[in-house]
Amino acid sequence: MAEPVVDDEYLKEIDKARRELRAFITSNQCAPLMLRLAWNDAATYDARNRAGGPNGSIRTDKELKHEANEGLLKATQLCEHVKAKLKKVSYADLYQLAGVVAIEVSGGPTIEFLPGRKDSMESSAEGLLPDVKQGASIIRNIFSRMGISDDKHIVALCGGLTWGETLKDRSDSKGQWPKDPLKFDNSYYKKILSKDLSSRLPIEDALLTDQSFRRHVEEYSKDENSFFKEYAMSHKKLSELGYNLKKQNQSKVPDEEQNQPKGPYEKLNQHRGLIGIGIVSVVTVILGYLLKRKKNQLKK
Ligand code: HEM
Repeated sequence: MAEPVVDDEYLKEIDKARRELRAFITSNQCAPLMLRLAWNDAATYDARNRAGGPNGSIRTDKELKHEANEGLLKATQLCEHVKAKLKKVSYADLYQLAGVVAIEVSGGPTIEFLPGRKDSMESSAEGLLPDVKQGASIIRNIFSRMGISDDKHIVALCGGLTWGETLKDRSDSKGQWPKDPLKFDNSYYKKILSKDLSSRLPIEDALLTDQSFRRHVEEYSKDENSFFKEYAMSHKKLSELGYNLKKQNQSKVPDEEQNQPKGPYEKLNQHRGLIGIGIVSVVTVILGYLLKRKKNQLKK
């Protein structure tokens, strides 16, 4: 598929997609699934040959069968309900928008979304995504292959694992479910810092034993604002891998609409203007009449 033309019609569909996604992610409580769909589609990117990335190829049968994508068929099927209402929006844009909206409706940071990703039906190779069994250097290499090489961004993105934190088992060490399992916050860092060595997953161990990673884990665990700020930037970067997306103008308002007063104050001001013109006209007519009368009196 060719690059989508991001014109006014496209931007209107993106607005509609955002509203639809908000409603269905909230009602289906599927924010984690949608975030994982967006991440798994994007994280295949290879910056060396500009292959893969957020291009919707995750919907192909072959890519959906990759071990790392187990369970994501459901996510693509859910997105089909939204896609059916939209003629133009690419799958690539839809999946990334779903990731952004998932964070937003769960109390996470606002992530800027720029549209314009094109779709591909070319499945990415298997084994490009990080594995839970890998250590710090492999994780770093995989992110670097994607073009994400700053440790603070890698650690911020891993905050997304707050929803997959114990990976398949989200209860805590005492078997208790978190109070609000669907809230997006910095609890992932707090949780892994409180775990003892024997109960850590390799990815958690990597984040804690590598001193540079650990510095950011500690910072984000204490300062949610700093986590949200870095997360929003890293997520935007992840969602745009392989693209140079430009900010588009908001959909244009027709000229006559633009000239219409918008709020009550502008309307009042417009009325005031009309009343002013009316008063000046009446005064001019009266003065003209009085002047004419005076002239006539003088003639007599
Ligand atoms: C860095 C290395 C990462 C590894 C090794 C990893 C691996 C995994 C695995 C094995 C699961 C469990 C899948 C299942 O339910 O079978 C999972 C879940 C999840 N991952 Fe990742 N992931 C990583 C990074 C990320 C990032 C960066 C994000 C988001 C930005 C993310 C978002 C998620 C979410 C939201 C889930 C939960 C999905 C659900 O409950 O339906 N992951 N991850």
